[in-house]
Amino acid sequence: MSECIGINTDRLLLRSIRPDDAAALFRYRSDAVINKYQGWIPKTIDDVYDFIENRISPTIDLINTWYQFGIILKERFEFIGDVGIHFLDEQKKQVEIGCTLDFYYQGKGFATEALIRIIKYVFFDLDKHIVVAYIDPENIKSIALVERIGFKKDKLFKESNSKYREWPDDLVYSIIKEDWIARDCSPRH
Ligand SMILES: CC(C)(COP(=O)(O)OP(=O)(O)OC[C@H]1O[C@@H](n2cnc3c(N)ncnc32)[C@H](O)[C@@H]1OP(=O)(O)O)[C@@H](O)C(=O)NCCC(=O)NCCS
Repeated sequence: MSECIGINTDRLLLRSIRPDDAAALFRYRSDAVINKYQGWIPKTIDDVYDFIENRISPTIDLINTWYQFGIILKERFEFIGDVGIHFLDEQKKQVEIGCTLDFYYQGKGFATEALIRIIKYVFFDLDKHIVVAYIDPENIKSIALVERIGFKKDKLFKESNSKYREWPDDLVYSIIKEDWIARDCSPRH
């Protein structure tokens, strides 16, 4: 049975993605130009149903699976983006994150607000130790996003295993819980 998790920020509700989000997700995720650095670009709405029903986990914190939150703008009850958490490693308590916003809602701080809250949830509710992000070196907006919230560049991952083009490089960014707390940008409540 799938879990439904809901987390609030000032402007947003971050909640588990559901099949009835498919149309909204398809609208912004299917744009291959805006999402050129993404590994998954749906061609039909059935691809989105398959993604929600079969390719992401209905349960949070399962190793080797992605859990996906929708980003809902509370003021308009509008679904404007998504945040994925990839549970990588139990021992090192390591997760990967990724975020996509509808182009219309970019440039307003919504991704920053969503990620800060999700990372807080990952560190304090799920008790993880490190959050990483794999980013194409040309994906300027994503680099700005993670640097804005305190991630540091670890390394260039040559010929990383992404699917959107052949043998791309990825930058690996990360933040550990201790540094997140020290930055004091993340009150616990
Ligand atoms: C990555 C992505 C989510 C970043 O979105 P974004 O809109 O740049 O990020 P935010 O929503 O946090 O907005 C930040 C911008 O809003 C501005 N802003 C306005 N109000 C703000 C507020 N209240 N708080 C913070 N920033 C605010 C910031 O100054 C910044 O502007 P700038 O880009 O001119 O510096 C988006 O580019 C995207 O979806 N890209 C396609 C998918 C993708 O490649 N994802 C990455 C793969 S993991």
